[in-house]
Amino acid sequence: MKTYLIPMLMTAAISISACETGYGESASNKAEAKKEANMEIAQSPADLNDLEIAHVAYTADNIDIRYANIALKRSSNPDIHAFAQTMIRDHKAVNELALALLDKLGASVQDNFLSQTLNKNAEPIIAKLESLSGKEFDIYYASNELAYHKAVNDLVENSFIPNIENTEVKELFEVGLGIFKGHQEHAQMMVNKLGK
Ligand SMILES: [Fe+2]
Repeated sequence: MKTYLIPMLMTAAISISACETGYGESASNKAEAKKEANMEIAQSPADLNDLEIAHVAYTADNIDIRYANIALKRSSNPDIHAFAQTMIRDHKAVNELALALLDKLGASVQDNFLSQTLNKNAEPIIAKLESLSGKEFDIYYASNELAYHKAVNDLVENSFIPNIENTEVKELFEVGLGIFKGHQEHAQMMVNKLGK
């Protein structure tokens, strides 16, 4: 099962709102430098700036929350419900921390190709989740959660954290990664229990 990744809870093409902290300036300079070097628009996760990375994470969190809300609606399995509640609680909490930090830094997240890809990839998964029920739903949901957390955790650990410039943003991602690795393990247990 190798389809994961996501839709659109936010359409924020919000750009940097302030430069007092120097944060926005750094992101702008990066974009400017690329333009000057006549480089193409970033198409690799490693090329994203901190504010774009934050947008990807925010988008990924919201996609998992969407999947969880469908699970609460369509599944009657108590394990699935408990997992989905955990996803909603944790991803919401991390997003709130991220927004508070960006607010403190005087910056806003920036939409980008990867967020758009995540949202696009989530659409068929949402359609499929909406079409299934019973054990079939539970197996698909658990398998997708496992694949999704594996993919996003890998992205965060290997592409994002090494490239984040701001120390506070980096720390937040490290905390988030710890939580989301826990989700991955939890998803693995669910998959095992469902006999898939
Ligand atoms: Fe999660």
